[in-house]
Amino acid sequence: MSEQTTFTGNKALHIEEDLVFDIGTTETSGVDLPTPDTSIKSRLGGLERDEAIGLAGLSEPETMRHYVRLSQKNYAIDTGLFPLGSCTMKHNPRLNEKVVRLPGFIDIHPLQPEQTVQGALELMETLSHWLTTLTGMAGVTLSPKAGAHGELCGLMAIKACLEARGDARKRVLVPESAHGTNPATAAACGYTVDVIPVKDDGRVDLDAFKLKLGPDVAAIMLTNPNTCGLFESEIIEIAEAIHGAGGLFYCDGANFNAIVGRVRPGDLGIDAMHINLHKTFSTPHGGGGPGSGPVVFSDTLMPFAPVPLITRNGDKLHLVEHVSKADTQPLGRLTAFHGQMGMFVRAVAYMMSHGSDGLRQVAEDAVLNANYILARLKDLMVPAFPGHCMHEVLFDDTFLKDTGVTTLDFAKAMIDEGFHPMTMYFPLVVEGAMLIEPTETESKKELDKFIIALRGLAKAAKKGETERFAGAPYFAPRRRLDETSAARKPVLRWSPKPATPTAAAAE
Ligand SMILES: Cc1ncc(COP(=O)(O)O)c(C=O)c1O
Repeated sequence: MSEQTTFTGNKALHIEEDLVFDIGTTETSGVDLPTPDTSIKSRLGGLERDEAIGLAGLSEPETMRHYVRLSQKNYAIDTGLFPLGSCTMKHNPRLNEKVVRLPGFIDIHPLQPEQTVQGALELMETLSHWLTTLTGMAGVTLSPKAGAHGELCGLMAIKACLEARGDARKRVLVPESAHGTNPATAAACGYTVDVIPVKDDGRVDLDAFKLKLGPDVAAIMLTNPNTCGLFESEIIEIAEAIHGAGGLFYCDGANFNAIVGRVRPGDLGIDAMHINLHKTFSTPHGGGGPGSGPVVFSDTLMPFAPVPLITRNGDKLHLVEHVSKADTQPLGRLTAFHGQMGMFVRAVAYMMSHGSDGLRQVAEDAVLNANYILARLKDLMVPAFPGHCMHEVLFDDTFLKDTGVTTLDFAKAMIDEGFHPMTMYFPLVVEGAMLIEPTETESKKELDKFIIALRGLAKAAKKGETERFAGAPYFAPRRRLDETSAARKPVLRWSPKPATPTAAAAE
């Protein structure tokens, strides 16, 4: 395929849409209301007015066209490739939307008596079965409403478990490459966050981690594959070491889509892991859309999982609100009701339509697509770490050195090429990071278009075509906002450099 860059965006998007006040007139209205009769007037107690209030009006078709045109200015996964790394914007099959709108799912209420929602409970039971089977874990709680909420649930269970042992530990170890929600969650649960350094290959420094272990360490929070798009190859040693020190292993499973059907986290020694249903099992979560973060637990932690739990008695399903075992301290409820039912339905539709082989194929194709991008760009852009990647590929900004173009400029110029920018300046361990996640849903043809656009931009930057970047985007409904101070100098909100690990920390 030719490598000549052509503008691939939708030019119609760039026609300015005037405000409704500018395109409407005071003489027009979308509705014809009858003149109020005198009885209404008398009931208004003299508050009525006869003169028009002067709002600009539009006819119904004009109103509809104005808002549809505005809606079409949005970039969305339904209109093009959305390469945000760490965010997994994959196609949401329309079958999911059809199934979730079935009256038996959409018309129910969480306060309905159990016997009237047996079908919904069965769907939750099916989802639980798939999640525990795919992860190899003992049990699952479905109620957390997002990945970060799942982290909170997992760490609360860890805290409850340690307290039940009379072992109130104080520190949680978090790699410096972690998603910000990890240290935030540990801090919200009252723990001190202790940062573990990452080695030059982008993975946790096992020796430094071991030096930090000690009787006050409650847990490690490790993401696998990690936010650099790499598999933590020493994960089993990490699990053994944390358990050996009396702590527990929390895994951030937001990137489970890279290993689903290939690796069971339960086999790696994990005690708790959240799964972003909205990433691994479809439903794009952009724009603050709905999320769901079920947490799978090991045998050790399951007794501390929040209620309600679903139990089966013959052919009847029940939501259990209380666990009576004296030696366990369940968290009670984490949410008012039972979780994000709509997401559960979409996830089960996705799982059942793919089947177990299909889910494995999802992971394999997601990894293949990311590595295809890596292979076709690495002569022009600089991969942050050597070797293959998992489901997302990470570049740093060294290929832009001395060009006057920054990661931010590069990302904005991608908009002019008709693509949403990749994730930039994250993870924080990489200078000028560009994190690209194509997902499994993109075809080779679409990936080729994306690659050609990025190759064109990389060459333009190296040739000194700085004007192409400086004011980008030029062809977007809105021009560049002033984000320079925040984006060019990323603000590190938590300690970026760990203190030199010492054996003293183990005391
Ligand atoms: C690695 C990682 N952990 C945690 C989260 C938090 O998930 P959520 O946005 O659903 O709260 C994300 C979100 O994208 C993530 O990428």
